Amino acid sequence: MTKRKAPAESSVEENVYKVFPNDLNSEYTVFGGLVMGLCDRTALIVAERHSGHTCVTAAVDSLNFLSPARAGETLIVKAAVNRSWRSSMEIGVHVAAENSHSGESRHVVSAYLTFVALDERGKPTSVPEVMPRSKTEKRRFEEAQSRRDQRLANRSPG
Ligand SMILES: CC(C)(COP(=O)(O)OP(=O)(O)OC[C@H]1O[C@@H](n2cnc3c(N)ncnc32)[C@H](O)[C@@H]1OP(=O)(O)O)[C@@H](O)C(=O)NCCC(=O)NCCS
Repeated sequence: MTKRKAPAESSVEENVYKVFPNDLNSEYTVFGGLVMGLCDRTALIVAERHSGHTCVTAAVDSLNFLSPARAGETLIVKAAVNRSWRSSMEIGVHVAAENSHSGESRHVVSAYLTFVALDERGKPTSVPEVMPRSKTEKRRFEEAQSRRDQRLANRSPG
């Protein structure tokens, strides 16, 4: 039987990545693909912790780059499961750029990623329900349903 799990059981509180010059684009700000990869990898850990299965990225939506990150800064990635359905899970990711000398930080990226848990044969398999506890978790849980409806409506026909 699939048990219910709280977001705190699978969340990543602080995945840190120190930016060096080889992470930059031609504008000398952090290459967006690196940040996207960090989001994907961190969210994957949350999905695998929550489901207990190998997971694949099914969709990425609302990935907004709000501010550039620069060499010498530290990227701090936080991720948590917002809601799950039968085999899929929405993971919310927040990335901040920190000046680790002063402690100042600013919001760089927010994103929602959907992962699907797979069984041993590579087929979608059921995952635990999300049991939101805090007010914020409850709000994220409620809002996730309309995002799912929207992304499934936008899903291109195979
Ligand atoms: C994601 C994948 C496993 C879904 O398989 P499928 O045969 O379409 O399976 P289903 O139609 O039964 O869907 C399974 C779940 O995925 C969800 N899903 C599939 N595509 C989705 C999308 N674009 N957005 C959100 N959810 C999606 C379905 O809603 C369903 O969720 P539920 O079980 O919680 O209701 C399959 O499309 C796949 O393997 N895609 C490639 C994944 C990959 O390689 N990712 C790495 C990127 S390189």
